[in-house]
Amino acid sequence: MLKAGILGCGSICQKRHAKEIFANENCELYGVYDPVTERAELVAKTYGGKIYDSAESLLDEKELDIIVVATPNKYHAQYSIKAMENGKHVLCEKPMAGNLKDAKAMIEAAEKSGVKFMIGQNQRLVPAHIQAMEIVKSGKLGKILTFATTFGHRGAEGWSIEGKSSTWFFNKEEAIFGAMGDIGVHKADLVRYILGEEFVEAASIIATRDKKYESGEYIDVDDNAVCILKTESGVVGTLAVSWTYYGGEDNSTVIRGTKGAMKVFVDSKNPILIEYADNTVEKIEAGEIQTNEKQTDSGVIALFVENILKDTPVKISGYEGYKALEVIVKCVESAVTGKTMKF
Ligand SMILES: NC(=O)c1ccc[n+]([C@@H]2O[C@H](COP(=O)([O-])OP(=O)(O)OC[C@H]3O[C@@H](n4cnc5c(N)ncnc54)[C@H](O)[C@@H]3O)[C@@H](O)[C@H]2O)c1
Repeated sequence: MLKAGILGCGSICQKRHAKEIFANENCELYGVYDPVTERAELVAKTYGGKIYDSAESLLDEKELDIIVVATPNKYHAQYSIKAMENGKHVLCEKPMAGNLKDAKAMIEAAEKSGVKFMIGQNQRLVPAHIQAMEIVKSGKLGKILTFATTFGHRGAEGWSIEGKSSTWFFNKEEAIFGAMGDIGVHKADLVRYILGEEFVEAASIIATRDKKYESGEYIDVDDNAVCILKTESGVVGTLAVSWTYYGGEDNSTVIRGTKGAMKVFVDSKNPILIEYADNTVEKIEAGEIQTNEKQTDSGVIALFVENILKDTPVKISGYEGYKALEVIVKCVESAVTGKTMKF
């Protein structure tokens, strides 16, 4: 039985990681830490495990096989590296780090210690997204020309356990990025996964349109971003993210090729819809996607536990995290400089 410890007992811990560890027959929750003790107490009471009084004491616990880093983004790199140096397998939430240098150091720490290292970019585990990747690979859509991917909801303050405008998601020091890093990184990873190729160019406009602190001032990270991306084979497309979609969530991806368009999570009744160039339509059963309100098993813990027990390569590795983060970093650089960035 693998023993897992979780750093950070907020929403992602409570809604997914602790729950999914509890449900996994090969893993148990051994320990938790959160600076807000009541959150650690709630998780330990519900799913088991001891409460630690500091991150360091949990990271140094000899009994632990796995550390899940589910803290604000600022701490991802330092906690993950320390855990890997201590010989623990690490599941780190996205975005894996606040910059590419730290992300590289995390990958190196995993290689040096020989542990498994996974990033919580779970969109590629959604069954419809796996099917979308297979459809592109099959050639059904012809040569892929363009894409449009979107992730928008009503804002991180509605999700974070800290709620309202006091959430760390709105504090640049702890979050490093705004909506772009929070949800854009999911879509950067997803499109790389579906198309099976890397991005090589990015241009972006990033804005803070609506979110404010209680003082009435705008938050110091972006709440909206629109990016134009190009892949190595020349596919061009847009990636739009928003924390201000008050009229309903949008988690859609459209891939267009010479033979037709595949619409994923565009039509609520048909998870995948292919509209062919000859005007025929194919509807593919593929299951729903999680929304902030509607949580289902993400598959992240089950996959990580399996990778560890079977000693198989990690599917959402540090490298995958790095390549998704690179897109975000280049988009931020483009927004700041007003230039198109090459990778
Ligand atoms: N994969 C996904 O779909 C997904 C979804 C949501 C959040 N996330 C990521 O998960 C991470 C946590 O987000 P969340 O939604 O749970 O936020 P949250 O605000 O709900 O919870 C964060 C928790 O971390 C605690 N914390 C703060 N500093 C800490 C420290 N130094 N050590 C340990 N704990 C600390 C806070 O007290 C809080 O309880 C973030 O990196 C976020 O981007 C991923």
